[in-house]
Amino acid sequence: MQTKPFGSTGLSVSPVGIGLAALGRPGYITIGHADALGRNYDVTAMEAGAHRVLDKAYAMGVRYFDAARSYGRAEAFLASWLQRRGIPPGDVVVGSKWGYTYTAGWQVEAASHEVKEHSLAVLQRQWKESQAHLGAHLDLYQIHSATLESGVLANREVLKALARLKGGGTAIGLSVSGEGQGAVIDCALETTIDGVRLFDAVQATWNLLEISAGPALRRAAAAGLGVIVKEALANGRLTEANEAPEFDRQRKRLRQEARRLAATVDALAMAAVLAQPWASVVLSGAATTSHLVSNLRATDVIWDDRAAASLENLVEPPEVYWKMRGQLNWN
Ligand SMILES: NC(=O)c1ccc[n+]([C@@H]2O[C@H](COP(=O)([O-])OP(=O)(O)OC[C@H]3O[C@@H](n4cnc5c(N)ncnc54)[C@H](OP(=O)(O)O)[C@@H]3O)[C@@H](O)[C@H]2O)c1
Repeated sequence: MQTKPFGSTGLSVSPVGIGLAALGRPGYITIGHADALGRNYDVTAMEAGAHRVLDKAYAMGVRYFDAARSYGRAEAFLASWLQRRGIPPGDVVVGSKWGYTYTAGWQVEAASHEVKEHSLAVLQRQWKESQAHLGAHLDLYQIHSATLESGVLANREVLKALARLKGGGTAIGLSVSGEGQGAVIDCALETTIDGVRLFDAVQATWNLLEISAGPALRRAAAAGLGVIVKEALANGRLTEANEAPEFDRQRKRLRQEARRLAATVDALAMAAVLAQPWASVVLSGAATTSHLVSNLRATDVIWDDRAAASLENLVEPPEVYWKMRGQLNWN
């Protein structure tokens, strides 16, 4: 996989990256998370499992790695892998996120999995924690799920602190979720400190079922931001693991196109993202090497107008998509 510029950051990323949301903790919302981990939640076993997936990703050319403070031990597992494999800073691009605190205490089912707070105090604490794990490897620090309601994009103290991190050489990004993604991205594009645009990158959900952030992501890319696409498989809904009867019509269409293009359903869904000119990197959220290998087949898919036309009616109204997303169980 050839790397390419990550917006105007000066960093280079592979078109497919790997997210560690499912690799760093026993509980997650993706369909089949428990089976993917073989229900073995021993820390050493989970670290070894994460390292296996990271090894495979690296061997297949993945050069963007996405963590967050709230993904359990994801930063620690990524750091131990980078260190044990002797991968120097600059060989890969590492992003992490602050703003959610992991609270599940290594349990699959917890009263609360993560707590959100976009305050200066949380930024300062989590920056130190991320630095302690990733140090010079940390290239990109993102606000985790920024919304207009959380007020973080109007919090000058936080924005100035982020600008200082940027001045120290760390690219600054934000991730967005929900129906308001486009509005938050547009607001981020206008956010400046001392006349300089603050954000270097944005991470958003875009997939065959939910395309509403597309126009704002196009504007972000045109402005020079690196664009990371998450949830390209709609948390597993765009894979063979989705057996929901109400998805029969969509599944049939997906399988038909996948067959025609000699792809798996998940590779086809990721190829749809790779075909977007504004996307810098699409994340695989695989927790197993076999799913990762299947996802990476996306890079071999020759996406065409027929696929785009055939799959465009899979799109759901954003409110329907996000309601469904909100109903996914931690498992
Ligand atoms: N707010 C935020 O900032 C935010 C939110 C969500 C995600 N993210 C980032 O985006 C990354 C990806 O997101 P995601 O993992 O939530 O969503 P995703 O990529 O849409 O979905 C991943 C799911 O698809 C399943 N899958 C993949 N390939 C499969 C296959 N061949 N057959 C069957 N199932 C398959 C995975 O199963 P397995 O686990 O069994 O492989 C997993 O359940 C995360 O790791 C994280 O870095 C960020």
